[in-house]
Amino acid sequence: MPYAVITGTGHYVPEKVVKNDDLKAFYDTSDEWIYERSGIRERRFAPEGVGPADLAIPAVKQALERAGVDKTALDMVVFATLSPECWFPGSACFLQEKMDLPTIPALDIRMQCSGFVYGLSIAEQYIKNGMYRRVLVVGAEMQSTSLDLSPEGRTVGVLFGDGAGAVVVEASQTGPGIVSTHLHTQGKYARELWIPEPSSLKRPKVSPDLKGLYPYMNGKEVFKHAVVRMKESALEALESAGWAPEEVDWYFPHQANYRIAAAMADQIGLSMDKFYMTIHKYGNTTAASIPISLSEAERDGSLKKGQKIILTAFGSGFTWASAAIVW
Ligand code: COA
Repeated sequence: MPYAVITGTGHYVPEKVVKNDDLKAFYDTSDEWIYERSGIRERRFAPEGVGPADLAIPAVKQALERAGVDKTALDMVVFATLSPECWFPGSACFLQEKMDLPTIPALDIRMQCSGFVYGLSIAEQYIKNGMYRRVLVVGAEMQSTSLDLSPEGRTVGVLFGDGAGAVVVEASQTGPGIVSTHLHTQGKYARELWIPEPSSLKRPKVSPDLKGLYPYMNGKEVFKHAVVRMKESALEALESAGWAPEEVDWYFPHQANYRIAAAMADQIGLSMDKFYMTIHKYGNTTAASIPISLSEAERDGSLKKGQKIILTAFGSGFTWASAAIVW
């Protein structure tokens, strides 16, 4: 059985920096409130007309270049996003068109903040069972057009940002690369963090009186579950790999909130020094947050070959997922 190894990473964030104070144009808020509660200082917003596939292109190009893989050699694309260009088809189809990729399977998955780790798991399985040799996994989000910029939207609107990350996963005779992945869902909490409309339960699906177009979040409930589930799934990955928490070089938590990562670190008995954080710069970029962190960590020299890392994510669904990887 071949190993599944991440051979290239890439990321892209839009140029426009939106600082906490800039959000005062829409909301009754402050830099102190946002930073204290979330760890966010700023995020990026892309201009209207840009979709997740557009944001993904520079990230994918970097990942392919770093892997030394030509786009014509890809066997599959897995694209995780909760903010696709349209109702259907998925963002992966647009990426395939825009990058002139071969007519390979281009699969969208909708696992929200856990989407990248789910995508990695799909890539891992296709590679380990021998069906494909090179799979591109993308997490990309255009969140800013979904945010409620009216005064009522402030609790959710200050947390999210746009961005994209990508990795190339390849079959290899030398590993271990991706040691294991672990996936979970609990749909009973689906309505605690969701965008309920437009909904196919209604006719017409889109009507002038839509009230659920913007993200709804029960922040306290989400916070509580996020700490428990991200910790649990990190421990699940550690146990499966046979690693003690302290022998891991880096933890890459989904960048939802600094306090969630800090509570999780505390409960595992680790310091935040082992947690790679980008939330202060980009906010919560949902499916893009982990691949952006991986790519940045590789570029700034923090993440090195042979290091042991744990990815752990939690998000709408509720969904949660983790991975143990030797880089
Ligand atoms: N600026 C200023 N005040 C704000 C605000 C904002 N952007 N948003 C809400 N407030 C106010 C509230 O109206 C409330 O005021 P009140 O006491 O007068 O009613 C007060 O701040 C406290 O609000 P509350 O919702 O209790 O804050 P909190 O401490 O629970 O923090 C979150 C809110 C969203 C930061 C927090 O619940 C959280 O981080 N949840 C998890 C979010 C997350 O990670 N989601 C993604 C998971 S993938």
